[in-house]
Amino acid sequence: MKAIILSGGKGTRLRPLTYSGAKQLVPVANKPILFYCIENIARVGIKDIGIIISPETGQEIKDTVGDGSRWGVSIQYIMQDVPGGLAHAIKTARAFLADLSFVMYLGDNLIGSGIDKFVNEFNKNKPEALILLKEVDNPSQFGVADISKEGKVLQLIEKPETPPSNLALVGIYIFSPRIHDAIDIIKPSKRGELEITDAIQELINMGCNVESFVLDMWWLDTGKKDDMLTANATVLDEWLKGNINGNVDNTSRLLGRVAIGKGSIIRDSTIRGPVVIGENTMIESSFIGPHTSIGDNVRIIKSSVEHSVIMNESELRNIERLEESLIGRRVKIVENRATYKALRLMLGDDSVVEV
Ligand code: DAU
Repeated sequence: MKAIILSGGKGTRLRPLTYSGAKQLVPVANKPILFYCIENIARVGIKDIGIIISPETGQEIKDTVGDGSRWGVSIQYIMQDVPGGLAHAIKTARAFLADLSFVMYLGDNLIGSGIDKFVNEFNKNKPEALILLKEVDNPSQFGVADISKEGKVLQLIEKPETPPSNLALVGIYIFSPRIHDAIDIIKPSKRGELEITDAIQELINMGCNVESFVLDMWWLDTGKKDDMLTANATVLDEWLKGNINGNVDNTSRLLGRVAIGKGSIIRDSTIRGPVVIGENTMIESSFIGPHTSIGDNVRIIKSSVEHSVIMNESELRNIERLEESLIGRRVKIVENRATYKALRLMLGDDSVVEV
């Protein structure tokens, strides 16, 4: 069995962060989302992974991920020239996949467990497809499944206006090579993409066995800012282990689970976990509240931050209270010390500031 991870696409909903970087590399608890996908695939013993990349962000993904040796797998990169849809991505990977079964993992999906159970189930029952479903409040934003009382998949529809159920398709699928026949039959959807949802529906029409699993653990599609913050908080809550490698002076207090990377300095500050802080970061006279991830080479001086993600090389000075914020790389937020109050901003396209 092989695996493909989809890391192409445009990432429009996470702009402006995705103007300068791939959405799959945005960090959750200081680790790119894509790394969680690779780890889950490596853990089931799959050795050959193809990562689908786009011309815009492919190089950054290659540079960050490498050849896979650090996970004990071999990674090949497959260029998808246009974001033609999830089924189009499989078409692009046709030569790599040969005639093997494969796991398809969307590079912006995170689940609260490994995928061992699903791979074992697929190998045991040998369906043509195994899909994962999760009950959600907003099914219209996803692919949606209608299943019988016995759990048989009756129908699948991509982002329906009137959803037949609240069961969304999770972005982790396992396919036999029959999926290629189905993809050859389907036509582009209303949004102009070759939809994997339509291809699985085609398998059902062909009389193939499509198995489904309803997830009982959490699932996060990290498409938008609030999804990212929820993913960050969930991963910190569930997986963070306290670990202090930096230097914490004796006027500082660390409460709960806090991880601090090498070379970081904490002075005269309070940190209430779960919080992760990267390497060579300086926190001085500040409060860092729960569910916050702070990257490498960040400076936070006389400020208070909580429930936020602050990426590498950013700086906060004299900021009374920053919360529920997603701050990219090399961003500066500093207090305006002038006698009159004014905002002085230099923001990239699509930035959002609430004052
Ligand atoms: O997250 C689960 C949902 O993912 C499913 O419920 C939907 O049925 C499925 O269509 C998909 O919906 P999205 O609209 O959220 O997919 P998105 O365009 O965000 O792409 C998902 C990932 O695949 C993302 O990491 C980018 C990558 N991608 C996307 C396209 C369209 C590619 O690599 N190539 C592509 O052509």
